[in-house]
Amino acid sequence: MAIIAPSLLSANFLTLNDDCKMLNESEADWFHLDVMDGQFVPNISFGPMIIDFIRKTTTKTCDVHLMITSPERYAEAFKKAGADILTVHAEACTHLHRNIQQIKALGMKAGVAINPHTAVDAIKEILGDIDLVCMMSVNPGFGGQSFIPHTYKKIAQLRQLIDENKFSAKIEVDGGVTLENAKAIIDAGADVLVAGNTVFGSKDPKATIAALKAI
Ligand code: DX5
Ligand code: ZN
Repeated sequence: MAIIAPSLLSANFLTLNDDCKMLNESEADWFHLDVMDGQFVPNISFGPMIIDFIRKTTTKTCDVHLMITSPERYAEAFKKAGADILTVHAEACTHLHRNIQQIKALGMKAGVAINPHTAVDAIKEILGDIDLVCMMSVNPGFGGQSFIPHTYKKIAQLRQLIDENKFSAKIEVDGGVTLENAKAIIDAGADVLVAGNTVFGSKDPKATIAALKAI
């Protein structure tokens, strides 16, 4: 059974408390929180202030996905806001190993995200140091995009690398996850499914989360 991490990027921010309540009552395991700076990605979302509010609504794991340049500048702020897992992009870090150590020293779990164009091999040398790989299956920046099929091959490659080395990093797949492709993504080796549009764009988000969980 996969870990289900609905992305609040597709929530209604005018009634955010209702969406948080819905997630708390649902079978969702994690809250996936997408931070965008308008520089690393062509969109701006929200930062530590909003996450601080969201944190107060839930005891579930807050999985914070930073799509920002030089994320080391803000690691402490996201720790204070209540992040449990802090994920940085390999493409956004000059000293990725140092950034991972910083996140762990602050008492959070460390994740590394890779874009669709980034080879799995790019994170081979730090795979043993991290708790999560966020495999982007769309180009980051927006919710509601279509899953890039080439990702299946990368998930399988990463699964093999993790299993062969007995590493404990979880594989999270982020972008374009639907009720139709979720089984194939899990079969390829994913542990965590992020879903924004599929959950919040559905008539009954709680039932959609339950359906994803049941796959
Ligand atoms: C994209 C974000 C995703 C996004 C997923 O840049 O990292 O987490 O919200 O949204 P969907 O599931 O709609 O593709
Ligand atoms: Zn994300």
